[in-house]
Amino acid sequence: EHLAGHLPTRLKGLDKALCGGIPFGVVTELVGPAGIGKTQFCLKLALLASLPTSYGGLDGQVIYIDVESKFSSRRMIEIGSKSFPEVFYREGMAKEMAGRILVLQPSSLPEFTDSLQQIKVLLLQNKLKLLIIDSMAALVSGEFEQTNNPRQHPLAWHISFIKSLAELSRIPIIVTNQVRSQTHGDSLFSFQHTVGANSQMQSRPDNPSRFDSHLIAALGIHWAHAVSIRLILEVRSGQRYLKIAKSPISPPLQFCFEITASGISL
Ligand code: GTP
Repeated sequence: EHLAGHLPTRLKGLDKALCGGIPFGVVTELVGPAGIGKTQFCLKLALLASLPTSYGGLDGQVIYIDVESKFSSRRMIEIGSKSFPEVFYREGMAKEMAGRILVLQPSSLPEFTDSLQQIKVLLLQNKLKLLIIDSMAALVSGEFEQTNNPRQHPLAWHISFIKSLAELSRIPIIVTNQVRSQTHGDSLFSFQHTVGANSQMQSRPDNPSRFDSHLIAALGIHWAHAVSIRLILEVRSGQRYLKIAKSPISPPLQFCFEITASGISL
């Protein structure tokens, strides 16, 4: 039983830094440029949550909101069969796990609203163990003008809903967001609303407090406050890095990672 309230990612350094993995009851954001591996990370997490508890999983249902039709069941089966062969080759297990992962593909904001409403039903049955939204920023057009009133944001209701869903249901919620490119270099490491453990990082003179303005424009300040943990994925000199950019418990650490047939690994 996961009384500690974490979904282990099985990325050793990350789990250690986050005291066990992705925490229950808060929103964790995966941010990075196109193709960096956000979806690969999400597929792995969906599998981990659907694993039987005897194999370290959460033995529960997963809702995967796939906004840009990136979900690939074929790829998920590959990751599962390579990462957990002992479970996957048990008769019927792959099918059972796949059956626990409900993929919703809203193609508009009203459809996304419907997707979130559907979650309530599963929550009442107490079966839902993980919610993944890949990706949130893709739901709003870049033309959204920031106003001083976060309530006027087209996703204002959704952002509040997601945050309170995490708090009330105590499940982990993973949301991905794309930033345009990594040409900002290290500036992606810091975020103007990062507080606490990361404040030291902010004050580094070579590390301007700047986040991808496209993401700020798309999701606004309200979103920045709704996220408890922000993991930034980026590539430098051909090497992929995963950085803990915001966390109430971890200092700003970074890890090298790669994507293989068995999915994301450190
Ligand atoms: P966007 O969805 O475009 O924002 O990107 P993303 O960050 O979600 O990227 P995604 O998770 O789709 O990762 C794409 C990368 O994962 C590719 O560049 C490949 O390196 C790797 N990848 C995707 N599929 C496979 C696969 O089947 N096998 C292996 N080995 N790597 C894969």
